[in-house]
Amino acid sequence: MTESGDPFAGTAAAYAHSRPGYGHEAIGHVADRFDLDAHTRLLDLGCGAGQLAVPLAARAGSVVAMDPNEAMCRATRERASRAGRSNVEIVLGSDADLRGGMIDDLTPLDLTTMGRSLHWMDERATLECLREHTRSAGGVAIVDDVEWLTAGDEPWMAAVYDVVAEYVATLPERYDPDAVEYDDPWDELLTECGFQDVETVAFTVEREWPIEQIVEYVLSLSFASSDRFGDDLDSATNAIDRRLRTLGDEPFEQHARVSVLSGRVSHS
Ligand SMILES: C[S@@+](CC[C@H](N)C(=O)[O-])C[C@H]1O[C@@H](n2cnc3c(N)ncnc32)[C@H](O)[C@@H]1O
Repeated sequence: MTESGDPFAGTAAAYAHSRPGYGHEAIGHVADRFDLDAHTRLLDLGCGAGQLAVPLAARAGSVVAMDPNEAMCRATRERASRAGRSNVEIVLGSDADLRGGMIDDLTPLDLTTMGRSLHWMDERATLECLREHTRSAGGVAIVDDVEWLTAGDEPWMAAVYDVVAEYVATLPERYDPDAVEYDDPWDELLTECGFQDVETVAFTVEREWPIEQIVEYVLSLSFASSDRFGDDLDSATNAIDRRLRTLGDEPFEQHARVSVLSGRVSHS
């Protein structure tokens, strides 16, 4: 955590440059499942640099992209502008702000998306609030991919982790995402919060990572942001570069797994 208390402080530029999108299939799946069209009002909560909000804006009527981090909001604005999307409104705010009254300006919602962001929020309270303020047949879609520094299964990912661990004492341990059992899995939580027709659909996305993007990806992580390296930042990034070059030529390949967990609202 940084002095400001914002785990993403100082990461927005690296985030915007390095974090890949979710792929056409996942975006298409969300759009088809919720029948997005020119009338759809969509909220993307925890929008980051717009990796989800901006491609979805091509399929929706209007998108409110909301995030508590100002630099992330600016990055989404820039991404929307580069993509020629004039239907993306940027709102500075968190899940607590949303529940604290901002939701009233957005109601009724058709769909709320959250990409790699729900775990930062009060999950149950946010989902309950969204269900209450979403029209029937609308819903929520939670889009995620595996964070590869701590949980990716390609050897080059483990090698980058080993280098970063030499510099960042508080780095979380690596783990196998398939072996984790969650106490309160999100699909069950959605059902408990009154969503119906809850399902998870997974997609494989082939990604290629140049070394420069790998380094920026590391610095975009809340637990490996540049201030965690202090004065050793240059030394660390050079060490990542050197280590990767011993493994082969860039770009490095990733068979990424993107998941879309979604549920529908019915007020009848
Ligand atoms: C890992 S990023 C994901 C960004 C983007 N949705 C994506 O798919 O790439 C997580 C985002 O959640 C935001 N965030 C953190 N705490 C939040 C909260 N309490 N409410 C809403 N967003 C939050 C962060 O500022 C950050 O931009």
